[in-house]
Amino acid sequence: MPSSKNLIDKNCLPKHIAIIMDGNGRWAKERGYERIYGHQNGVVSVRETTEAAAETGIDYLTLYAFSTENWGRPQKEVDALMELLVDTIEKETPTLNKNNVRLLTIGDLSRLPLNARGKLQKCIGETAKNTGLSLVLALSYSSRWEIVNAAKTIGQALLDGKIRVEEIDEQVFSDALTTKSIPDPDLMIRTSGEERISNFLLWQLAYSELYFTKKHWPDFRKEDFYQAIVDYQNRERRFGK
Ligand code: IPE
Ligand code: IPE
Ligand code: MG
Repeated sequence: MPSSKNLIDKNCLPKHIAIIMDGNGRWAKERGYERIYGHQNGVVSVRETTEAAAETGIDYLTLYAFSTENWGRPQKEVDALMELLVDTIEKETPTLNKNNVRLLTIGDLSRLPLNARGKLQKCIGETAKNTGLSLVLALSYSSRWEIVNAAKTIGQALLDGKIRVEEIDEQVFSDALTTKSIPDPDLMIRTSGEERISNFLLWQLAYSELYFTKKHWPDFRKEDFYQAIVDYQNRERRFGK
């Protein structure tokens, strides 16, 4: 079968693609395994997708890896996910450097275990000078958390006399979010057939094209990523005009 990669128009690539990586647990259960087996296999899809994004020339790839609400999962699953995160970051840093990928994070990292935070900071530091793809990991992230935080930041700036009420506009608000200086996603992909946003980038997705696939995340491969881009390129974005 010919690859959808050849159908991609390099002149109108999405600058930023965001993905809700969903369906790991169901993927494992369907095969008679524990949910964590699905998360482990999801790492392969993260690697493939990151590589595909870098090769295609995408500027930003944001992956929703762990939500604020996910802290409410059974402790055993949370611990296993954190361990997987630490292992993966450590193992993948050389590959990120080889592919000129810079790692960034959004979310409330203060809730992560100390060793996970340390490994993340190390990887962020070691890839900071890379000029290709920016890989943004959303960790302990939720959009309402982020928006409330932005309101607090702006409120404090008002109290401190650093800004006047009349000066608060969309730019000021955007700059108070964790995604400051990251362009809004052009395309948002969610795997596993669920068609909802689940507290992900509510402000930033205002005019993003949404793409849903029934595939569970551990089955997501480069070809699926290319197909989503081709689908995106066949849409007409009107921005209300
Ligand atoms: C997505 O897969 C990964 C995380 C949320 C960490 P799930 O764990 O949500 O798997 P399903 O949706 O229950 O199948
Ligand atoms: C969204 O998936 C969060 C991540 C992919 C990290 P969930 O599986 O947690 O969301 P719901 O519960 O289906 O809305
Ligand atoms: Mg899920």
